[in-house]
Amino acid sequence: MCGIVGAIADRDVVPVLIEGLKRLEYRGYDSAGIAVINDHDVRRVRRTGRVAEMEAAALAEGLQAQLGIGHTRWATHGGVTEANAHPHVSHGVALVHNGIIENHDQQREKLIAMGYEFESQTDTEVIAHLIHSFLVHGADLLTAVQAAVRELHGAYALAVVSRKEPGKLIAARMGCPLLIGVGEGENFIASDVSAILQATRNVIFLEEGDTAEITRDSVTVFGADNHPVQREVHLSDVSLASLELGPYSHFMQKEIHEQPRAIADTIEGVIDAGAFSAELFGADAAQVLNGIEGVLILACGTSYYAGMTARYWIEGIAGLPCSVEIASEYRYRDVVANPKTLVVTLSQSGETLDTMEALKYAKSLGQERTLSVCNVPESAIPRASKLVYYTRAGAEIGVASTKAFTTQLVALFTLTATLAKLQGRLDETGEADYIDALRRLPGSVQHALNLEPQITAWSEHFAPKEHALFLGRGVHYPIALEGALKLKEISYIHAEAYPAGELKHGPLALVTDEMPVVVIAPNDSLLEKVKSNMQEVRARGGELFVFTDADSNFHPSEGVHVIRAERHVGVLSPIIHTIPVQLLAYHVALVRGTDVDKPRNLAKSVTVE
Ligand code: M6R
Repeated sequence: MCGIVGAIADRDVVPVLIEGLKRLEYRGYDSAGIAVINDHDVRRVRRTGRVAEMEAAALAEGLQAQLGIGHTRWATHGGVTEANAHPHVSHGVALVHNGIIENHDQQREKLIAMGYEFESQTDTEVIAHLIHSFLVHGADLLTAVQAAVRELHGAYALAVVSRKEPGKLIAARMGCPLLIGVGEGENFIASDVSAILQATRNVIFLEEGDTAEITRDSVTVFGADNHPVQREVHLSDVSLASLELGPYSHFMQKEIHEQPRAIADTIEGVIDAGAFSAELFGADAAQVLNGIEGVLILACGTSYYAGMTARYWIEGIAGLPCSVEIASEYRYRDVVANPKTLVVTLSQSGETLDTMEALKYAKSLGQERTLSVCNVPESAIPRASKLVYYTRAGAEIGVASTKAFTTQLVALFTLTATLAKLQGRLDETGEADYIDALRRLPGSVQHALNLEPQITAWSEHFAPKEHALFLGRGVHYPIALEGALKLKEISYIHAEAYPAGELKHGPLALVTDEMPVVVIAPNDSLLEKVKSNMQEVRARGGELFVFTDADSNFHPSEGVHVIRAERHVGVLSPIIHTIPVQLLAYHVALVRGTDVDKPRNLAKSVTVE
């Protein structure tokens, strides 16, 4: 959702801010702005729409400065207007904010009574006035920010500058990620490392309650008690190349094609070790994983479907009861908690608020054995978990999640095999077979990617439709759900997914010759059942688009289109069958001419409720 960038240097920082905001565009936003301190004054440019429009306005105004902050806003409090766009300014103090201030109404009333006038409907503007109200009583900028944040309830990442202190950039973090980029004779702030990679790879991740005073030559971090603290400088391993399109037309296309490499990187540790072991999940993982009585998976969206897939594996292979819950539902439900449950959160971004809150809720119920599967190092959810398994998909820029999903699946399969081993349900031969299956997986995924021309041809059938149905059974039912979600997200075609056996209990009423029906039909033990379900569709005039395996002996006929992956790969089959549904959604969206990487109304990281 929203994004922050800030810079202090002895060069013009306006290009740095604009480049940073462009790198943050993928997160989703509807307005953008920058504010700089120049000649002891604040100069600000804000625009609704794309960063490019704001950039043009900044260039037209000849904006140049050595200190500045920038923001991409995804509207929550107040509509998409220039007045609501950040930075917000109060008497020479300018700030940008990610997060939500819950007590903004009370603060606003108090500040109005003090004589402050508001220009926007945002919760953020109260913070600017609040900081100013401390400055007028003689505080310096750092102290004023520290005093102001004590008055706030809610979540914030803040970058603040003041015309009175033109050599300082102040940062504050609570509940939203914020990091400092450490350069040579210049320093930066960003909500996401991609915004500053052009300038430095050395980053300090701020912790909850931290504030920081940043000058050109120094970074001083203060803990929640306002005392100076040491925070480690990390070398970011996010590459600039992962943020570039290269030869691709869209990030989604690039990320779909990166999956063989992303999967290979994610399982590198297991393949190198040639064995599944608790240590893959952290040094003390054996303590956490031994003796568990079940697994609870918490996630949203695509990550939730990865969890649903894993449930088949965890129950079938590791023999442990597993429940999978939509995080935004779990957090508000009275649940029966077992402290011996392993709570697994799945989140590509590691920032999803609902998943984070569900994790906190699970912990508050005494479920302390927590594991996060995440793609973003040092993000909030892994930091709040005892164990972490980082997927190594690389930066995922397209809003529609692709490589993050398949790498979550291999991570979850690794967890399943590890748990099975700890439960005494995986012998040496079984372990060697699974390692071998994982080793061969990137090649099989590449084979599935090679089906693209056939899938592209299908996309013409789907593009004029307004509805589509996806069917799957067993462990492939979540893949049908994922296929429907991908199609909805980027092509705006209404798509539903059902377990194929459920068809005749209702959704069959929807089937006409206007309803394309996608079927995930691998050559597994449920294939004959799926074939019967397809007959039910065909008998009602429904047109079938079937993804199957080369060895399934399933042939095209009138109204039945078939695309075959290579021969059935066994237990990892859901990963293979994800590729065609991703490609289908992508190509249908291309034909329909939608904004593939930035679909309407959606954000990459959902950091609000
Ligand atoms: O970052 P997370 O994995 O926690 O995100 C969860 C969902 O918001 C995300 O998967 C969303 O559904 C994607 N847009 C799906 O493509």
